[in-house]
Amino acid sequence: MNPILSVKGVSKTYASGQRALEPVDLEINKGEIFALLGPNGAGKTTLISIICGIVTPSSGTITVMGHDALRETRAARMRIGLVPQELSVDMFETVLATVRYSRRLFGHPGHDAHIEQVLRDLSLWDKRNAKIKDLSGGMKRRVLIAKALSHEPDILFLDEPTAGVDVALRRDMWKLVHRLREKGTTIILTTHYIEEAEEMADRVGVIDKGKIILVEEKTELMKKLGKRQMLIALQEPMDAVPGDLAEWHLELADEGHTLRYVFDAQAERTGIPSLLRKLAELGVGFKDLETSKSSLEDIFVDLVEHREQAA
Ligand SMILES: Nc1ncnc2c1ncn2[C@@H]1O[C@H](COP(=O)(O)OP(=O)(O)OP(=O)(O)O)[C@@H](O)[C@H]1O
Ligand SMILES: [Mg+2]
Repeated sequence: MNPILSVKGVSKTYASGQRALEPVDLEINKGEIFALLGPNGAGKTTLISIICGIVTPSSGTITVMGHDALRETRAARMRIGLVPQELSVDMFETVLATVRYSRRLFGHPGHDAHIEQVLRDLSLWDKRNAKIKDLSGGMKRRVLIAKALSHEPDILFLDEPTAGVDVALRRDMWKLVHRLREKGTTIILTTHYIEEAEEMADRVGVIDKGKIILVEEKTELMKKLGKRQMLIALQEPMDAVPGDLAEWHLELADEGHTLRYVFDAQAERTGIPSLLRKLAELGVGFKDLETSKSSLEDIFVDLVEHREQAA
């Protein structure tokens, strides 16, 4: 399939000397919801800002629906809607005037029916004549979304759409995203919230220290989520896992004091009872057993920590 957006070798070093992005390659398919997950300062906003033409990359190329985004900036930008992380609106304008202005900016005249629909979808219609400065924080975020949707973009970027918003707005946002996707809009969002990526995304990319360290279908990640591990604290440390235990693919941890068994919690047979019987048979004594779920969060922390150790 032809990607709707293609990023190749895009890197960024800011004028301050701050290296924000190592060369990134990423392809986004039409109609998918892609979540970019990463800690503070990972480079999420930098990457999005480059794709949207707000920040100039230090290297690389970007293609948006067949347009070279760095050369045919306007043609590429017309296809894109951006909901920025930071508020960026004229506080003294009204909601309606602000959203209309955005639409005209992209060369679309009039079409108030579309604007009315967007404002209604975001529960902003009743507030259309209010000045933005008089709205609550959550309402201001809704205005940013309305602005981004004003020119009917094919690709919508949401940079931390639900940071600091209440549960109701978060749910509304999720619903809106699903509705947009049904209409064929491609959505790329950044988030710190693993729950949000789980709820919304078709694919998840993890970014850390300017590098994309994983891109995977969410369902694949969910399979990993279904994995659990059992830690067996041994009475006597071991040098190696006994050959008789080969079928469980155990790992030794904690300098031989702990055996680790990873199993699929959703499987009919976890292999635990037979493993425990075998340990008894071999006379391997243990002090404690502990099982835990490996969540997307663990996978994430694991990845980030491994990278820190390697660095
Ligand atoms: N205009 C700028 N000038 C210099 N350095 C910058 C600039 N913008 C961002 N940076 C730096 O680039 C790195 C990546 O920042 P970026 O805002 O892209 O991260 P982020 O993943 O969006 O973080 P957050 O989750 O906090 O929004 C950080 O180290 C940041 O300090
Ligand atoms: Mg950011």
